[in-house]
Amino acid sequence: MTTRINPSILAADFANIEHELARIATADLVHVDVMDNHFVPNLTFGPQMVERIRATSPIPLDVHLMIDDPDRWAPGYAELGAESVTFHVEAAADPIALARRLRAIGARAGIALKPGTDAEPFLEVLHEFDQVLVMTVEPGFGGQSFMPETMPKLRRVADAVRAAGLDVWLQVDGGVTVDTIGIAAEAGADTFVAGSAVFRGVPEAQIAALRAAASAH
Ligand code: DX5
Ligand code: ZN
Repeated sequence: MTTRINPSILAADFANIEHELARIATADLVHVDVMDNHFVPNLTFGPQMVERIRATSPIPLDVHLMIDDPDRWAPGYAELGAESVTFHVEAAADPIALARRLRAIGARAGIALKPGTDAEPFLEVLHEFDQVLVMTVEPGFGGQSFMPETMPKLRRVADAVRAAGLDVWLQVDGGVTVDTIGIAAEAGADTFVAGSAVFRGVPEAQIAALRAAASAH
């Protein structure tokens, strides 16, 4: 099984972003957390910063939109050349229509589910998406603890993806460390976001350790 490690630059030094990106050259994708201070009680950056990251790093971008009204804003991130654009279903008026627009622009289309959001309504329409992000913390901040109670939901999505024979990446985000990544891998995740776990240490060593721990589950 393919394992993807996507470091979250939320834990990086934004003022030295070129240097920080150079430290994660072995990452599969760069996870870029866009927060609007409305959907979540925290604010990061918008399209200008994402465009700059895209121009600075050869690593494909995995944009995670924690914003209201993604129906309006998400396509702009796809147009900037993000490999993957993930929006929250709690905020989207029409997730399937939005995913179709993202795909038409050429991005992978992802849906994100907060810990309390049921996956059931999406299990029959998984072919409309390229990624499902099961949040393993409440979105908004790095450095929180992994919520193992989200694993039954991840397992249900993984079973549905497998049963339908789809190539949908299953992502977890929040509290992913060498100690928790195996739990998520065992439940069916293949794409792992890690912020503090990567940037708190020597990033390339941390990425290698996470990769090894995910495959050893
Ligand atoms: C949280 C963000 C995450 C965050 C994860 O809302 O979506 O991507 O950076 O940080 P860690 O890995 O520190 O939990
Ligand atoms: Zn994220």
